[in-house]
Amino acid sequence: MSDPKSSSTPAPAAGQSAGHDAAADAGTTHFGYRKVAEEEKSQHVAGVFHSVASNYDLMNDLMSAGLHRWWKAFTIRQANVRPGMKVLDVAGGTGDLALRFARQAGASGQVWLTDINGSMLAQGRDRMINAGVLLPLAQCDAEFLPFADHMFDVVTVAFGLRNMTHKDKALAEMQRVLRPGGRLLVLEFSRVWAPLTPLYDAYSFNVLPWLGKQFAGDSESYRYLAESIRMHPPQDELALMMERAGLERVQWFNLTAGVCALHVGTKH
Ligand SMILES: C[S@@+](CC[C@H](N)C(=O)[O-])C[C@H]1O[C@@H](n2cnc3c(N)ncnc32)[C@H](O)[C@@H]1O
Repeated sequence: MSDPKSSSTPAPAAGQSAGHDAAADAGTTHFGYRKVAEEEKSQHVAGVFHSVASNYDLMNDLMSAGLHRWWKAFTIRQANVRPGMKVLDVAGGTGDLALRFARQAGASGQVWLTDINGSMLAQGRDRMINAGVLLPLAQCDAEFLPFADHMFDVVTVAFGLRNMTHKDKALAEMQRVLRPGGRLLVLEFSRVWAPLTPLYDAYSFNVLPWLGKQFAGDSESYRYLAESIRMHPPQDELALMMERAGLERVQWFNLTAGVCALHVGTKH
């Protein structure tokens, strides 16, 4: 991890990076490298997560050699959830973050686990039950959050934003449901340190689909993973998107040489 960076870094010109989804301006967007109609993307993404849900946690450990646990532990420390807090985990899937937050917020707090995908949420629900933790769940689209304004102290989204069709809309929704002074934490794959790019590309486009085929019988979903990471906005661009959504003092931490970044912004 490096020192936190802030969004004072000049933004790349629009369309300059693969992260800028210029296609979205014309009613189309990207599903990995493929250009698809906006309405289609959510169906393709749903297909991926229905397919991977039952092997999701195992594949995360295999693909990242356990590193995702460290990235999430760092996110949990930065979130600094205390007893009595209200926390929303958006696109929470199998519930790694929500489970830890529920323990930290305690009986006087409230932690919501949400996701658009019923298969992923079912895995999350089972994990909570097995851990003896009761928390509210909601199946909902991050672009239309069914919560009141100013409701949460902390909102998190881990490895979810990349899959959303209108990231700006989802960020605006997350900002809306935060209370003034509340914080949004976005953990997402990001732009790796340039000298590592050839190695990282070789790993992503060869090893990931192979692992997917061997352990989950599905190489395509893991090819989508590699492609969607390349299409996601890099660190400085995401910071600007968060600012445009109304968040302030946005800073980010590069994790594992930028394989991931944790962005943190505060609602005024
Ligand atoms: C890679 S998983 C991340 C799960 C979990 N947060 C984690 O860190 O392990 C991405 C999740 O984003 C969810 N997702 C994708 N688009 C979404 C949307 N528009 N609204 C809410 N969740 C969405 C998927 O269903 C999936 O569970």
